[in-house]
Amino acid sequence: MSVNVEFAPEGQHGVVAEGTYLWDAAKRLGVRLPAECEGRGECDACAVVVKEGATLLSSLTNAERARLSPERLASGQRLACQAKVERAGTLVLQPVPQPEREQTTEETTKDIRTDFRDMTLQQKFATLAELEIIAAAQTFRAISDLSLRALGKGLDAVVGAGRARAHRQRASHRPPEHGGSARKSEGKKTTTTP
Ligand code: FES
Repeated sequence: MSVNVEFAPEGQHGVVAEGTYLWDAAKRLGVRLPAECEGRGECDACAVVVKEGATLLSSLTNAERARLSPERLASGQRLACQAKVERAGTLVLQPVPQPEREQTTEETTKDIRTDFRDMTLQQKFATLAELEIIAAAQTFRAISDLSLRALGKGLDAVVGAGRARAHRQRASHRPPEHGGSARKSEGKKTTTTP
């Protein structure tokens, strides 16, 4: 059984066999989808919007759930390297424009490196000084968090010991019929005021 596939907005179309991944279908029809992770489901470069025929495709993979936000999934996006055509029919797909993709950490790092390389020496020094200040502030915050956590633990221990003592005291004051350990006064009569 074959599947009709069309790519919007240019309209490249053709027939592919069931079991074909959308990425391979695109390639066969001359639509170039980027594939930064080479189809391992580790980026979102190959995302496409399924405009028609979503039910012809395989279920969402864990990689798609991890890479595509709920909003993107709700708008019909799939990762072309993960989604496979499982039923015959007509599919209309549209590649997600590059600027809409969320930048990966790798891309961000690459951008920072490129920006840094293109800076003048003066700008590089200024940036390094700024980064040093940020790193120092983060280190200070981390140390403060650690000390506060240690202090909190100490206070918890003191409060816990106090509570245990109070609990023991209360238990010793309870009548034995209620499970307490208070002893009846033996041979001594206590006088109570009315
Ligand atoms: S190519 Fe990276 S997720 Fe498809």
